[in-house]
Amino acid sequence: EKGTYPHFMLKEIEEQPFVMRNIITKYKDEHDNIKLDENVRNAVTAADRIYIIAAGTSYHSGLVGKELIEKIANIPVETHIASEFLYNMPLLSKKPLFIFISQSGETADLRGVLVNAKNMGHPSLTITNVPGSTLSRESDYTLHTYAGPEIAVASTKAYTAQMAVMAILAVDAARAGGVTIEFDPLQELAIVANAMEIFTNQKEEMEEVARNYLSVSRNCFFIGRSMDYHVCLEGALKLKEISYIQAEGFAGGELKHGTIALIEEGTPVIGLATQKGVSLNIRGNMKEVVARGANPCFISMEGCEHEEDKIVMPKVHEYLTPLVSVIPMQLISYYAALHRGCDVDKPRNLAKSVTVE
Ligand code: F6R
Repeated sequence: EKGTYPHFMLKEIEEQPFVMRNIITKYKDEHDNIKLDENVRNAVTAADRIYIIAAGTSYHSGLVGKELIEKIANIPVETHIASEFLYNMPLLSKKPLFIFISQSGETADLRGVLVNAKNMGHPSLTITNVPGSTLSRESDYTLHTYAGPEIAVASTKAYTAQMAVMAILAVDAARAGGVTIEFDPLQELAIVANAMEIFTNQKEEMEEVARNYLSVSRNCFFIGRSMDYHVCLEGALKLKEISYIQAEGFAGGELKHGTIALIEEGTPVIGLATQKGVSLNIRGNMKEVVARGANPCFISMEGCEHEEDKIVMPKVHEYLTPLVSVIPMQLISYYAALHRGCDVDKPRNLAKSVTVE
């Protein structure tokens, strides 16, 4: 039930700090260490390469998951769109592990890949919000995202929950593989939860950004680099699916190779700058579009913020910035859709779970 909330989407956006705290509790043992099924750990450490298979928003969390597992656990990872992988499978490594990421656990494109992986004798792990779902039952192992029921068609809390679970999985695998790692995901996720809360308490500011940038726009660009780029893909998907504004997430450095031709006087460009290593590069890319008339809006993080930034998030570990930086994007999309009179929870042409190919 959505209680006093006008929409499930707003309720689910606001639930994200609680979901983080829930995940911490569920994945913590009595000594405050990570608690994770030993069989899952063994499957991950036995793999010479991981294939993450997902669709839509879950695919976007899989892109971040690849970064986390590669950087933290040192295991090569490829993230694939399920419907592409199904009919155009890349060359597999000798000991692959398949990880299926799915809020519903029912997405047909993923199931097709799972059936093939099983036929080839490869191990499989499903990360899902619905244990007992088809993918969960049919794969060898399941990790639960504990986000609670997600009713709004646009996925929000499932996305951040998936990334949180993958961060925990990555550290667990790293430690099992003998990698010493300072990063404590359980502690860092608690900091993430607090940072999320700051944004969910700043709804007026987010509404204002939506009003100023998106109430009459035809289109919108989200630009970022490295980890931020993946979040830009998700920000753009959120905006297009509920507000019907044509939106595109773009790698900042790639704009000048064609897409910059679309920038006109007043085109909103939302820039994400949370990654220190590329923060100046993305600011340079923004200058390039501003010179062509773009209306810039930066979302940055304490420590690499500039005076003109519209939204500055509290500092969190650089591995976990997507979990926080996506929140203003979710809220801006929500308010943009509201201002345009769209049906936020049930956007046209979409279904919550896509059980046909
Ligand atoms: C976007 C959205 C979809 C789903 C996609 C995968 O907000 O909800 O893109 O993420 O259909 O669904 P699951 O995660 O249930 O496999």
